[in-house]
Amino acid sequence: MPRILKQADAPAPLDVRPYSPVLGAEVRGIDLASGLDKAAYEQVRAALLSHQVLFFKEQREIPPQTQIEFGRMFGELHMHPAAPQMDGYPEIFEIHVDRDSKIANGEFWHSDVSCDEVPPLGTILQLHTLPEVGGDTLFANMYAAYDALSEPMKRMLAGLTARHESEHVYRERYSDRGVDDTGKQYPQASHPVIRTHPETGAKALYVNRTFTTRINELEQAESEAVLGYLFDHCESIDFQIRYRWERNDVAFWDNRCAMHRAIWDYWPAERKGRRVTIKGDRPA
Ligand code: SIN
Repeated sequence: MPRILKQADAPAPLDVRPYSPVLGAEVRGIDLASGLDKAAYEQVRAALLSHQVLFFKEQREIPPQTQIEFGRMFGELHMHPAAPQMDGYPEIFEIHVDRDSKIANGEFWHSDVSCDEVPPLGTILQLHTLPEVGGDTLFANMYAAYDALSEPMKRMLAGLTARHESEHVYRERYSDRGVDDTGKQYPQASHPVIRTHPETGAKALYVNRTFTTRINELEQAESEAVLGYLFDHCESIDFQIRYRWERNDVAFWDNRCAMHRAIWDYWPAERKGRRVTIKGDRPA
């Protein structure tokens, strides 16, 4: 017979409120720096699948090991192929931009590391230092981008795969942070243009301006035209939100159905935080 939960045993429900009708939710009532129990984990997972990106509000700085353990609850952690690692915590990618930076991470629309054969499920980013103003992140809903296509376009794209490359993105990208990538080979992979989310079963557009270079089955000129159209389509404001960060906010996004873009409009101010990335499935 199932155990009847007494009131005191029942997990407190998370406070999850939609950020916009398009995607995203703000989450309160959980202190990530204290770690998650199984019940909270289940609620976070369900909220992520419903909203695609979660913004955890009113947080304290999460110790690196606790952030790693939070990520590991969702799967094995992904090691970034190019970015510098945090001393003592190779799973952590430090996001850091200041007046001396030559580039900022994520400045163009992308799904994280879609150039990997098995690209990431999700990413958990906490920002500890923010510019006084600016440094927002845009997120876009790739289920909505797929749904908005006409039926003939969906049919045409259904059988196609696209090449995702990273040499042009990562080569010498982090040299200003001490990374010497001489001799290193950066990943590339082919993925379906339309992918089915392994947990929700919904279809999402899976191409992005940063990594996707070619639709394999089309002629070069056709590929350029179709990709150009798809990039513009999935970057449409109809599918987007713009998130304004507060100190210590944590964003957790699902790379399988959402893209994002970080805005570097705050030079010479500093923006800094830590990110862990969770391994996903081979897109299908
Ligand atoms: C990224 O991980 O792509 C950067 C996101 C951000 O800094 O807002």
